[in-house]
Parts: sequence; C-alpha cells; structure tokens
Amino acid sequence: MSEGGRRLAVLVLAAGKGTRLATSDDAPPKVLVGLLGAPLLEHVRRAVEALEPDETVVVVGHAAERVEAWLAEHWGDAVPVRQIPQEGTGQAVRLALDAIPDFSGDVCVVYGDIPQMRSDDLAGLLGRHRESGAAATVLTGVAADAGMLGRIVRGGDRSFVEIVEARDAVDRPEVLALGEFNTGLYAFDAEALRPAVKNLSRDNRQGEEYATEAVNRLARDGKPVALFTSPEAGVLLGVNGHGDLAEAGATLRRRILDGHLERGVEITAPDTTVIEIDVEIGRGAVIHPFTHLGRGCRIAGGAKVGPFARLRGGAVLEEGAEVGNFVEVKGSHLGRGAKAKHLTYLGDATVGERANIGCGTITANYDGKRKHRTTIRALARIGSGTVLVAPVEIGEGAVTGANAVVLPGQDVGPGRVAVGVPARVLPEKMDSKREASSDAERKSS
Ligand code: UD1
Ligand code: CA
Repeated sequence: MSEGGRRLAVLVLAAGKGTRLATSDDAPPKVLVGLLGAPLLEHVRRAVEALEPDETVVVVGHAAERVEAWLAEHWGDAVPVRQIPQEGTGQAVRLALDAIPDFSGDVCVVYGDIPQMRSDDLAGLLGRHRESGAAATVLTGVAADAGMLGRIVRGGDRSFVEIVEARDAVDRPEVLALGEFNTGLYAFDAEALRPAVKNLSRDNRQGEEYATEAVNRLARDGKPVALFTSPEAGVLLGVNGHGDLAEAGATLRRRILDGHLERGVEITAPDTTVIEIDVEIGRGAVIHPFTHLGRGCRIAGGAKVGPFARLRGGAVLEEGAEVGNFVEVKGSHLGRGAKAKHLTYLGDATVGERANIGCGTITANYDGKRKHRTTIRALARIGSGTVLVAPVEIGEGAVTGANAVVLPGQDVGPGRVAVGVPARVLPEKMDSKREASSDAERKSS
C-alpha cells in the first residue's frame, strides 16, 4: 500500500521455536502449527498480503528449512532471512531490516504467532501511524489479565512512557496490574527504526535483544511514539502455549462462522460447529450441531449436513445433498440430492445424483499401500452395511443388498443387483426376485 507515495515493508518475526507448543522432537515449529486448516503463518500471510506491501521479509530460525520450504510454496513474495541462534525480537527486526538496506518508508513489524490478526488491525495501525507522523506506533490491546505479555506504561497525560515485559516487572506490581498490553504489531518509520535496533542492551531477564526496547529507546530520545488501541485488539494475544492456541482458534472460528451466518447459511448451533478456512457454503444450506467442515469443502445451497458429521478438506456436496449423523466424507463428491444419512464412511468416492447410501456403508479406499476411488452412479441404492472395496463402480440405478461386500473391480452394472459376501452379481433373470427382498432391507436405512 503506497499511500501518499510512501512505501511499505512488512517484517514478520517467525524464528522462535514455540517450546510450549512442541510435544515431540519432530513437532512443527510454532508458526507452522495448524489452526482451522492452515498453519499460523498462513493466517498471518492473509492479513499481511491484504496490505499489498512493497517488501515482505520473514525472519526464520528454528526449523528454518521447513519454514523456508513453506514460504517458497505459499508465500512467494516473502524474502526469508535467517536468525540463528534466536537472541530476541529486536535482533530479528535488525536482521530483517539489513535484508532491505535501501528501503525507506513505513515498516510494519508483525509477530508471526498472532493468527487472529486481521488485515483491518494492520490497516488501522498503519493508518494511525501515517496520520500521526510518529516515529513508532504500537498497537495495544486491553485484557483483564495480560498474563506474560508486555505492559504499556503511560504517563499522566496518557502518552507513551515504556513497554515493560512481564518477566522484567516481577518487582513492579503496579506495572503487572496494567491491563494494556503490547500486541506485537507495530508501525515504524524506517529511518527511525534502523538506528533504534542497533546495539540493543540485553540487560533483561531473558538476556535478549528486545524489539520493545527499540520502541522505548525512541521515546527516551524524544521521538514521537504513538499508541493505537481498538476493542478488537483485545483478542490479539500471541500464541505461546496450547491454551493460547485454543483461544486464538476460538476467535478465528467464531469469525468464520459469523461470515457464513451473514451470507445466509443456517448454522443451528454455532457453539458446537467448526468450519475451517476457505469453505464455501451456499445460501440456504443447513449445518446441524457438532459438525466439522474441513478446509476447502464446498457445500451447495439446500444441502444439509450433520448433526455429528465430518467433512474433510475438499469434500463437495451439490445442491440438496444430505450427509447425516456419524458420517465422514473425505475426498468425495456427492451429486445433487444424493444422501448418506447415517454411520457411513465415504472416502475418495464420487456419488451420482439422488443415489442413496444406506446406513453403515463403507468405501474401503485404502489397500494398505494406495488409495483407490469408488464410483456410485446416479440413483444407485446402496444397502445397509455395504462395503465397497475400491476401485469399484456401482452403475446407475444399481442396488446392493444389506451387508454386501463388493470386491475391487467387481463392478455392478447399471440397474443390476449385487448381494452377499463377497458380493456376486446375480444372473440377470434373478434380479426381479431379489429386488423385493433388498427393498425390505433398505426400509431399515
Ligand atoms: C512478545 C513481546 C511482548 C508482547 C508479546 C505479544 C518482546 C520482547 N516482547 O513477547 O511485549 O506483549 O510478544 O504477543 O518483543 N521471534 C523471533 N526471533 C527471536 C524471538 C522471537 O523471530 O529471537 C519471534 C517468535 O517466533 C514469535 C515472535 O517473535 O513469533 C514473538 O516472540 P515471543 O518469544 O513469542 O515473544 P513474547 O514473549 O510472546
Ligand atoms: Ca508470543
């Protein structure tokens, strides 16, 4: 965003390990921990990219190769810079700035462990910074208990005095009692920031170079430091432990749900519904309680899902399709009006229009080495408890009897009936006799 000719650089700090989130040696680094279908860094990327920065630098360190590989694939505009070892947020900012030595204009510093940040938060911060012409502007939030976050100390006239890390305020209870905290989102003037991050002292509990110390230094040197706070910023608590991760997830989850509700989706119990990012749901679709919709699912209008349904990433339900209780759908496409209403696993399946999948149907898509597809054509009726061992195809209008096991490649032709374990396709003349009994079986589904 080059407003008024000013250029913008965004520096994302993503070098930390996230010790409190790592549960094993090969656990992902903090910024790649997943939340609602995407790593923390993807949520940050979306907020940052909306600003259309001229330069984006991401500081990586812990598990640098993994983070760099992710950046190469998902954030091509970002330039990674290594910080090894990681000796503080101030050092990280300095290394990032060194990567863009000729840059002048505004610099947004963004901590990579705040997946709840919205582009509006950043745009608001940057707007305020540009208006005030300050050397630094800090986005602050207010919380009942700011925990281990850095506290904002203001003077009598409410102007900025200093940011004090909670760890360094153990003997300053009046500081710890302050509810206003540093979100870890800042805007700086590049010219002011460069000298402020040089020769930072490490005289603090963690023995690190603090970015907050650069802000304090600017204020001490008489440079204008502005504070910008908004009610929305109160939720921008960084993710350090699992409690924070759940908290951030709750905020993001609620936002996603509100978006769908506003667009005309009926979500009957939002408190029990999880919808990951990038899910498309048509107006008039109904999502019943305790339902989980994975990233990238597409659900057309008039479709019904749940209660207790799980659609994994990329599942597609066309107009009027229904997926009921205890049904898992993965990598599958259900055509218009197709129904799978009870206790079913559909994995790597294509289900034709108005096909009915009886209770307890399983597509056995994995042979221990590879995944295979199941194709169920329009109007097919799959009897209760059928196991379809992929790859296999059930033809248009074909029927399987209750508990049929249809083996790979033993396709059931259009209009034919298959029964038994493993299912045999009956000679054509017997189809009519079997129809009556398989009808009875279907009634139970
Ligand atoms: C920091 C702030 C604190 C603020 C809080 C907001 C400082 C000194 N403290 O504390 O005032 O309230 O964030 O959430 O800045 N990182 C690096 N390199 C490093 C250290 C950290 O890239 O050497 C990255 C981390 O990956 C993380 C971010 O910077 O994404 C913040 O670091 P973290 O250690 O979580 O800082 P906090 O203790 O939470
Ligand atoms: Ca943090």
